[in-house]
Amino acid sequence: MLDCDTPNCKTKPLLRALGGETLTPPPWWLMRQAGRYLPEYRAIRANAPDFVAMCLTPAVAAELTLQPVRRYHMDGAILFSDILMLAHALGQKLFFREGEGPVLERIDGHADIRRLKPGQAMSRLDPIFDAVHRVAEALDPRTTLIGFAGSPWTVATYMVEGGVSKDFRRVKRWAYRDTDSFGELIDLLVDGTVDFLAAQMAAGAEVVQLFDSWAGILPERAFERWVIEPTKRIVAALKRRFPDHPIIGFPRGAGLLYERYVLETGVDGIGLDALVPVGYAHAQLQPLATVQGNIDPMVLLVGGAALETSVRELCRTLDSGPFILNLGHGVLPETPPENVTALANLIAGANNIA
Ligand code: CP3
Repeated sequence: MLDCDTPNCKTKPLLRALGGETLTPPPWWLMRQAGRYLPEYRAIRANAPDFVAMCLTPAVAAELTLQPVRRYHMDGAILFSDILMLAHALGQKLFFREGEGPVLERIDGHADIRRLKPGQAMSRLDPIFDAVHRVAEALDPRTTLIGFAGSPWTVATYMVEGGVSKDFRRVKRWAYRDTDSFGELIDLLVDGTVDFLAAQMAAGAEVVQLFDSWAGILPERAFERWVIEPTKRIVAALKRRFPDHPIIGFPRGAGLLYERYVLETGVDGIGLDALVPVGYAHAQLQPLATVQGNIDPMVLLVGGAALETSVRELCRTLDSGPFILNLGHGVLPETPPENVTALANLIAGANNIA
C-alpha cells in the first residue's frame, strides 16, 4: 500500500497541488483519458465485447489504466473502470450497448431497493481492487494513482432511469415525491461509495475523485439534499479512515452552487466543468480548494490555435494558485490522439506562455 508519508508521495506533483502548493507547469491528467480515442484501447476492446467483464478483469483494467500514461506521461493515472460498477456489484443488471451507453434494469421504488444486495457488493468489486494494486506496483514514482466512484445522486440517476436520460423525469419524480424512500437508496449508495473508495485507497489509490456528472440538473434545495449532504458524509467517513488522502469533487454543471459545494463538503480539490468562468474560479474557488479543469473537450478535439489559446488563458489565470489542468468533462472518442501530445507540450511550456 502506498502511504502518503513516504518521500515519493511528497514529490508527486498532483499530490503537492492537492496539498495546496502552486506549481508551474501545473500537474495534469484528463477525465476519460483511457478510451476509444486511443487505437490501443480499441484494439483491446475489439476482442472484449463485454465492457463490464473488461472492467472486472484485473490485468485488462490495469493495462487500460496505463495506456494513456505510457503515451503522454500525465501526472495522474485514473483507474480504468466505470461509475456504474457499484450498481452492478449491488446486483443490478448492467450492459453497455455499442454506441448507446449503459442499459440497466430499472429501480423503481422501495421494493426494488430491498432487492439490492449491499452485503455482497465489496466482494464482487474485488477484481477492481486487484487492478488498483497492479497499477500501483507498475506506476513510475512521479505519477499519482487516482481512484474514483460516481456520487450517489449521479449513480442513482442511472439506476432509476435505466440508462442515459434526457429529462431525468423518473428520478426527479421519485426524489421530489417520496424523499424518505429515495433517501434510502441514497443512504445505501453513500455506504457503498465509502466502502468502495476506502477499499481503492487501501489497494493503492492515492487520490479519489467523486464524479457527480448530473449534479447540475437539481435546483438549490434538492442540490443540498442529494448532492451536498451525501458528499459531505462520504468525505467525512473517508477522512476518518484515510486522513491524508485527498478527495476531488466534480459536481458538473453546479454553476452558482459550486461555492457552497466546496465550502460544505470539505473536498480538497474541485473539478470545474467547461462553463465555469476561470476568473470566477480564481477569485471565488481557488482560495477554498485546489481547482481542477476546465478545457472544453471540444477544444481538445479541434486542437490547433483553439487549444493553444485555451491553455494559455487557463494557465495565466489559475497558475498563481493550487491548480491541476484537466478538461471540463471527458475526452471525446473522436479526439485525434496527437492533440493530446500537443496539449502535453503546451503544458510543459506553460512557464513560457503565461
Ligand atoms: O477516465 C478514465 O479514463 C477512467 C475510466 C472511466 C470510464 N467511465 C470508462 C468508460 C471513468 C472515470 C468513467 C466515469 C463515468 N462513467 C461517468 C462519469 C464521467 C462522465 O462522463 O460524466 C459516467 C456518467 C459513466 C457512465 C457511462 N459509462 C456512460 C454514460 C457510458 C457511455 C458513454 C460513453 O462515453 O461511451 C460509459 C461507457 C464507458 N465508460 C466507456 C469507457 C471507456 C466506453 C465503453 C466502450 O468502449 O464502449
